[in-house]
Amino acid sequence: MRVVHQSYAQTVRKGRSVATRRRADAMGRPSAEDVREAYAREALHRASTTLGANHARAGATFAFERLRYEVETTRDGEKATTTKTILRDVTGSARPGEVLALMGPTGSGKTSLLNALAGRTPLGGTLRGTITVDDAGRDETFMREKVAYVMQEELLFPFLSVEETLTLHCRLRRARLSEAEVAASVEEIVAELGLAKVRASPVGRPGGLPRGVSGGERKRVNIGVEMVGDPEALFLDEPTSGLDSFQAQRVVYALRQLAAVGRTVVCTIHQPRSSIYGMFDQLLLISEGRLLYIGEAKDAVGYFASLRFECPNLTNPADYFMDITSLDARNPEREKSSRERIEFFATEAMTRRLGEKAVASALEQHRARSAAPTEYDPTHASWIQQFVLLVRRGFINQRRDFIGVRVTLALEMMYALIVSALFRGVGHDQKGVQDRIGCLFFVVLNVAYTSALPAINVFAGEKGIVVRERASGAYKWSSYYMSKYVTELPRLIPRLIFCALVYWIVGLRKTQYNFWIFVAIIIAEAMSLTALGLLMASAMPIGAALALGPACITIFTLFGGIYLNIDSIPAGARWIRFMDPIFYAYSALVSNEFGGDPIAFSCESSTTRCLETGAAVLELYAFEDVKVGIQIMAQYLLQIGIHFFAFNALRRTSKQYMPLSALTGNRDGDDDPVAKKDFQTV
Ligand SMILES: Nc1ncnc2c1ncn2[C@@H]1O[C@H](COP(=O)(O)OP(=O)(O)O)[C@@H](O)[C@H]1O
Ligand SMILES: [Mg+2]
Repeated sequence: MRVVHQSYAQTVRKGRSVATRRRADAMGRPSAEDVREAYAREALHRASTTLGANHARAGATFAFERLRYEVETTRDGEKATTTKTILRDVTGSARPGEVLALMGPTGSGKTSLLNALAGRTPLGGTLRGTITVDDAGRDETFMREKVAYVMQEELLFPFLSVEETLTLHCRLRRARLSEAEVAASVEEIVAELGLAKVRASPVGRPGGLPRGVSGGERKRVNIGVEMVGDPEALFLDEPTSGLDSFQAQRVVYALRQLAAVGRTVVCTIHQPRSSIYGMFDQLLLISEGRLLYIGEAKDAVGYFASLRFECPNLTNPADYFMDITSLDARNPEREKSSRERIEFFATEAMTRRLGEKAVASALEQHRARSAAPTEYDPTHASWIQQFVLLVRRGFINQRRDFIGVRVTLALEMMYALIVSALFRGVGHDQKGVQDRIGCLFFVVLNVAYTSALPAINVFAGEKGIVVRERASGAYKWSSYYMSKYVTELPRLIPRLIFCALVYWIVGLRKTQYNFWIFVAIIIAEAMSLTALGLLMASAMPIGAALALGPACITIFTLFGGIYLNIDSIPAGARWIRFMDPIFYAYSALVSNEFGGDPIAFSCESSTTRCLETGAAVLELYAFEDVKVGIQIMAQYLLQIGIHFFAFNALRRTSKQYMPLSALTGNRDGDDDPVAKKDFQTV
């Protein structure tokens, strides 16, 4: 396929150079004729569907009958739930080798229909009807491995280049391919999606850093990620929204290419320009959850004309359909008339059995094709391969995140310098006791906040991506989680610098042994709080996690013996400290500083209360029984416990779709009365 592509490009280039020689003006600028010709060539190229033609596929015939999707909703201020019917007995089909566009006004149920077909209906509602793939029930493995679902928002690691992103997914999905085959496969996708020019650019974040590729290119990368598994069918939710019309056209052109070789492509689409509309093979119009039209896109104008709704000349049919199928709720009169119009179309579609005809013709075509199903080899990377690939991705992304890395380092230095300047050279008098306690207190809190909050923040950017990648079966949760654990480790390096600066400048206990214990306590604390951040970010929406994180640390601080003497905590609540990372860290640090070999502090005559020894300080804080080694061990056990919960919380978030088996058959009997009745009571 690459050969085809190159030879085409060469022809174009050759043609252009001849023309240039012939007609360029003295300045070497191409003539108007040249420019026009080149545009015609481009347009031809845009419309050609020869790319990848030698990769014929079987595709998949989707037939859906009387799909009905209902959710329970509560209206504002009301306790009782009402059932909202989002899809009302929608029938139709999607065929291999064609692009089926789902069109309709906002809120008409396009996404819901797409989700239902792709097996991505969110948990909570009820879905009824039948969906078959190739005239048989939907197979879990087939749906997961060979049906790609491209979400509306692009969820990609921003610092990886286009090529790296595609290569990684290819390695994850198709472990049996050799390096060369992976490269060839990525090359093919890059060419098919027209990404050759940006292959080495970072993917980037919309509106953020790094800037990366353009919106349209990012959308195509997003499609590419789902393409690496070499799917038979692609479902895309609004692949063009947010793009300018030229970019949108490139995306739909790419979809058309994907369909042209025999794949089934279904997409919802919003406001296509007429040249895009012209690229659709099949059109499904839906409004208020009701099917208004399904059939050849090019016949739609004629169909509506036969209903006496004639698309005016020079009007984009897509715009016209939007006009006549939208519910106009500006005033009751208009609402009534537009509702009646929609109902008229829906009834016509029903009496003309458009859906049933589409199903029948698709199934007939399927049976006639007798194409052998495309061989597929769902060999995923092994656990260890997944782990290695994900660790590598994590490190690359982290290393290139200059701002992230620099800000963390700078902050760490800043805190270290502030603490050092304030507490520099603590003495062995009563002020020295107070300063040591204060310094350790600050260190514990600083480590807590700078571990938990960045962990939540970093994961905020990653969670969506990972949930999506998991939903398409790219890897196992466990390999991801382990890789996450490992990629978090380098963040401990700035801690070491922080510890060294603070410890020696402040002048805490001057032995190597005590210093390394200090480091061990800090590292253990940082790891526990990172785990806590991950737990929060996994278990709840990021906004809630960011709000709850600091609150949680404050509560742990209360029970950690900092503000409140451990002995003053009510007996019933003392157990809390056994799951309190702040307690383990703080008590260990204080113990490390004041325990062990006796340490003496001088008393000034003016002070009323005098702590003459380290042991007296420990007694005051009720830390006299604390064993540093045990606290560190307990901290690690706590960390493992938190990770256990975090991992499970994360795994639970992936169970967000209805299982395929949840689709219950539709009721028998005539279709009209039920649909009509529901419709009128909306
Ligand atoms: N899980 C749900 N709970 C409540 N309402 C929903 C749910 N899913 C969809 N809806 C509602 O159903 C309607 C159709 O949604 P959707 O399929 O997303 O429409 P479209 O993609 O055409 O804009 C919208 O009004 C939407 O708010
Ligand atoms: Mg939608």
